[in-house]
Amino acid sequence: MAEREIGFGVVGLGMGAYHASAITQSKGAKLIALCDADEERLNKTNEKFKVKAYTNYNDMLKDKDVEVVNICTPSYLHVDMAILAINAGKHIIVEKPVDINVDKINKLIEVGNKAGVKMSAIFQSRTYPLNKRIKDAIDKGRLGKMIGIHGLLPWYRAESYYQGKHGSWKGTWEKDGGGSLMNQGVHTVDLLQWFGGRVKSVFGAFNVFAHNIGAEDTTVAVLKFENGAIGTIATTTCAYPGLPQQILLYGENGTISKEEEELKVWKIKGEREKEEETEMLNLYGSQEKRGVTTASDPMAVGSSGHVAFIENMVDAIINDKETLVTIESAKHAVEIVTAVYESGRTGKEVFI
Ligand SMILES: NC(=O)c1ccc[n+]([C@@H]2O[C@H](COP(=O)([O-])OP(=O)(O)OC[C@H]3O[C@@H](n4cnc5c(N)ncnc54)[C@H](O)[C@@H]3O)[C@@H](O)[C@H]2O)c1
Repeated sequence: MAEREIGFGVVGLGMGAYHASAITQSKGAKLIALCDADEERLNKTNEKFKVKAYTNYNDMLKDKDVEVVNICTPSYLHVDMAILAINAGKHIIVEKPVDINVDKINKLIEVGNKAGVKMSAIFQSRTYPLNKRIKDAIDKGRLGKMIGIHGLLPWYRAESYYQGKHGSWKGTWEKDGGGSLMNQGVHTVDLLQWFGGRVKSVFGAFNVFAHNIGAEDTTVAVLKFENGAIGTIATTTCAYPGLPQQILLYGENGTISKEEEELKVWKIKGEREKEEETEMLNLYGSQEKRGVTTASDPMAVGSSGHVAFIENMVDAIINDKETLVTIESAKHAVEIVTAVYESGRTGKEVFI
């Protein structure tokens, strides 16, 4: 007998439209409902999916067929909406960042654990094959003691990105929790801490240079890791026309460097150094030149990365397993980002 399908409802139909697509592509998952307060956007999106449509979130939460709610609304609403869903007996998947406020994230962990529901955050980069290979090499100690952990996100967003009814929350302190670091950069921050371990303290600076927004469009910070490594993160939405994310990692026994999902350097000291480098470059080195990427176009994100999260949620529910990216493990990126902002405001090193 086929396993039963798990019913999903999606709220917030910008990124949420990609979630809806991912649900329809995922094994064991069924798209039951869509919700958006913007009725026009809701109806337009639902032309493709033809499922139940709700303008009121609480109405969707009353729908018994919805077992999992995917929360894809502006970032400041994530925890409040997740807790409402949990109180209605639902499991949850929350878009990045889990929220813009660490205390609220702690509250969500407490409420969700007490209710015994499954909770997943989205950091799709953790599921990409090259990133998994890098994580594995570092966890096995192959780079030796880590020394440098660096991330650079030289992206570009036109002014229009921050305008209009679905843009004006972006780049604000109140609703986006910041700008290039919290919104675009949080994926890179998460990867740095996933590869390099917990960050102990930060020293940061930020400013608005080229957009009419309240938070920041450029941030740089020094990161000191608990394992003794030192690193940097730099994010911007000012680097026209938008260049690939770069990550550079080195330890006492080797160096790895990549641009987006394209491997640039894989050099780990040892007898097989040359062969391994060739193997890795053959696998991940010259990726097909992609057309437009999220470096310049936020809508180039696609839904393929999200399928893994939907299928993982189905598996977690049916087989009572922990999710791929728990809320707890996604929290540290927000702790780092908010500490960088505090440091930028006070001019002092901030300990996490
Ligand atoms: N994983 C990724 O790569 C990725 C990419 C883009 C965005 N995101 C995240 O997705 C979230 C949404 O971003 P976006 O760019 O799609 O924003 P958006 O503004 O385009 O979409 C948010 C939608 O939520 C709706 N909404 C707001 N409040 C609501 C409410 N109370 N009830 C019902 N609907 C409500 C809005 O009408 C809007 O359609 C953000 O947290 C963002 O960080 C993640």
